[in-house]
Amino acid sequence: MSLTVYAEFNQPAFTPQKIVVVGLGYIGLPTAAALAQAGHSVIGVDVNPRVVEAVNKAQSHIVEPGLDELLEAAVGGGRLSASTEMPTADAYLIAVPTPVGHDDARTPDLSYVFAATQAIAPVLERGALVVLESTSPVGATGQVIERLAAARPDLKFPAPGRPESEIDIDVVYSPERVIPGKTIQELSTNARALGGATPRAALRAARLYRSLTSGELLLTDDRSAEMVKLVENAFRDVNIAFANELSVVCDKIGLNVWEVIALANHHPRVKILQPGPGVGGHCIAIDPWFIVAQAPEEARLIRTAREVNDAKPHFVIDKVRQALETMAREGKPDARVGCLGLTFKPDVDDYRESPSLEIGRELSRLFPGRVVCADPFEAMLTERDGLTMVATHAALACDVVVGLVGHREFRTQPRPAGVVVDACGIWA
Ligand SMILES: NC(=O)c1ccc[n+]([C@@H]2O[C@H](COP(=O)([O-])OP(=O)(O)OC[C@H]3O[C@@H](n4cnc5c(N)ncnc54)[C@H](O)[C@@H]3O)[C@@H](O)[C@H]2O)c1
Repeated sequence: MSLTVYAEFNQPAFTPQKIVVVGLGYIGLPTAAALAQAGHSVIGVDVNPRVVEAVNKAQSHIVEPGLDELLEAAVGGGRLSASTEMPTADAYLIAVPTPVGHDDARTPDLSYVFAATQAIAPVLERGALVVLESTSPVGATGQVIERLAAARPDLKFPAPGRPESEIDIDVVYSPERVIPGKTIQELSTNARALGGATPRAALRAARLYRSLTSGELLLTDDRSAEMVKLVENAFRDVNIAFANELSVVCDKIGLNVWEVIALANHHPRVKILQPGPGVGGHCIAIDPWFIVAQAPEEARLIRTAREVNDAKPHFVIDKVRQALETMAREGKPDARVGCLGLTFKPDVDDYRESPSLEIGRELSRLFPGRVVCADPFEAMLTERDGLTMVATHAALACDVVVGLVGHREFRTQPRPAGVVVDACGIWA
């Protein structure tokens, strides 16, 4: 199927549907609430009973601007509820995690997607639409179809050579591109790639997503849509790796990387990103590995970018170690370290794959009793093992201050007088 832009003249009058959103996390919960706000009847399904309980009380278990208000209106208005049981619906949107394994090949872990697929299979009725939103390796939608078909031999699924008119269940892959912190806004404006297992499936999904976003709806096939999401994040990872590598090079030759980048960015066609302590989160630190796993010999630049970004936390730890060694030589063997920020990026409560958290933990292990950490979102930190959390002013008062995350709260603080290892340019 070649790329098509969903034409507005195809748009029928809005038809409310019964929609199940499987997985009520950073993606699924805002999506469920936004679909309810659009007028659909939405049931969120999650395996975590605590999440279900919270949503049914219109409480969000994640911090996302605008989500509380949206939930209150959706749950209060009776258009959104949550359950651990899978109901029958017109459409199923799957937004469950897709991590990578910690094996050398970084194999994508599709077990959550397949568990969701198995839960949907028994309740599927002829005419339903299934949309996979989870970031997935190329071919995952095909595997979902195979599993659904194996579980429901009484229904006809997309298959090579099968005419659309004979297909009972439409299946689509549609990657999510929102950024935490702006999810609600971006859900309603971002363009979407809609990869149909058949053209009809993509068109059906476009009609559904038109009720969610005013952004362009780009119809394609499932495998292309799967690759699009991976490519987007690999592109970002490679660009961040360039900035991170520059920071290490500039450090070696005694240059201020922030100044070098600022000056270079005055070139009309150069826009270098800012370096940081590494790359974290659920997407950029993971998705490029999906490409590497499928083309290990060919994806050389993408793999190297991952390695450069994964090495950056060790560089920051080394800088702190060197600072402490210098202070010990100068007669201060018990110098204390204050780490500012542990989330994976500024002003969000998300600690997943966070390089700053890795740095905070490793420094605490290397220098027991001498490291403290501050983060405005520490309430969301589930495992504090080995970490001593303190208020911002106490971290800033340490002998060595390590800037790890540029939270707004930190950016308003004056640069401390002592030794500063500023990995993210808080005081650049
Ligand atoms: N967080 C982001 O910014 C972002 C952005 C774009 C894409 N994505 C992708 O979206 C997908 C979901 O990510 P997320 O950040 O929302 O994850 P998350 O961990 O915040 O939420 C996932 C939810 O799914 C639930 N779950 C797990 N298995 C389940 C099952 N079998 N049935 C029902 N519920 C189940 C979990 O309990 C959890 O509440 C991932 O593939 C991710 O890569 C995430």
